[in-house]
Amino acid sequence: MRRALVTGGCGFIGSHVVRALLADGWAVTNLDKLTYASNPANLAAVAADPGYRFVHGDICDAAQVGELVAEADLVLNFAAETHVDRSLLDPVVFVRTDVQGVVTLLEAVRAHPAACFVHMSTDEVFGSLPAPLEAGEDAPFAPSSPYSASKAAAELQLRAYAESYGMPITVVRCCNVYGPNQHIEKFIPLFATRALSGLPLPLYGDGQNEREWLFVEDLVEAVRVVTSSLPGPSGVHAVHVGSGERLPNLQVARQICALLERPASLITAVDDRPGHDRRYALDCSRLRASGWRPQVTFAEGIARTLSWYAENRATWAGAATAEFEGYIARQYGERLPAAD
Ligand code: DAU
Repeated sequence: MRRALVTGGCGFIGSHVVRALLADGWAVTNLDKLTYASNPANLAAVAADPGYRFVHGDICDAAQVGELVAEADLVLNFAAETHVDRSLLDPVVFVRTDVQGVVTLLEAVRAHPAACFVHMSTDEVFGSLPAPLEAGEDAPFAPSSPYSASKAAAELQLRAYAESYGMPITVVRCCNVYGPNQHIEKFIPLFATRALSGLPLPLYGDGQNEREWLFVEDLVEAVRVVTSSLPGPSGVHAVHVGSGERLPNLQVARQICALLERPASLITAVDDRPGHDRRYALDCSRLRASGWRPQVTFAEGIARTLSWYAENRATWAGAATAEFEGYIARQYGERLPAAD
């Protein structure tokens, strides 16, 4: 049986990929550090699957990573610090996990070259793009936040390993993914869960920043397509995954209120995120040439996502920890009026 090592499998995207791999007949090892962003409840449905194994650990732990990579045919790296606002508050942890962690994985794959390596990256490495520009796979990096700079730095390491050691490496750069299981710090789940509780929704700046939204199932299918052609030739092979559905945040916020039947007056303009990128846009023609197309429109995906948050409070409520409340206070502070 082929074995995949998924890092960060208790997180949002990782948990969907773990379930898809098990369904496809892979044996899956999930290496997860169980940070605030991990939620074992995301994998409750497969926890007893004989093909599934959970390992508590850190991608910066070279010995542990080496052992797990040695037995894997495929390594998918979803372990990361991912939240831009947290990177502005505490950049150092992003460099550790998102750069040092990736180099630790690369060292293990260099020692065990039978494992194919796929790394998850982001459209944010290109920085803000004015309309109608779209970033192709070879566009220059111009990251704006400590988060995106650490993802770009990791990609430079991928490039260096591919060049220096002749390794084949796949990097998947994705736009904003949404859907069930996403941590409630992110825009859509934050607004959904706060709207459900009648709390104000903190919209940054003028609300006209645009994000490209992809339903998580469509990303999982893209990962399937990408991994099905491995191993590839040596070098970095980048693939962009986007939906083309680019929407201003204010429009998304209004849609959330309308679908949850909450007043749009909950939307509260707050001070902007520093260095807030205005617009991201990916050119996905490379992936589309393989036949992949997003199957879920934003209209369908947002309705499904909001229903999930409304109906699965027990799954996501565990994320509302004292740490999370502390983060909310630190991040939004007095910008956010108290609930009535
Ligand atoms: O573009 C891909 C990236 O999408 C991923 O690489 C990141 O890991 C992921 O966090 C996400 O980054 P964003 O910064 O775009 O996502 P976030 O959910 O934080 O914010 C989406 C938009 O909503 C952004 O323009 C900022 C805005 N926003 C966000 C929050 C949390 C608000 O207006 N208010 C908020 O409270």
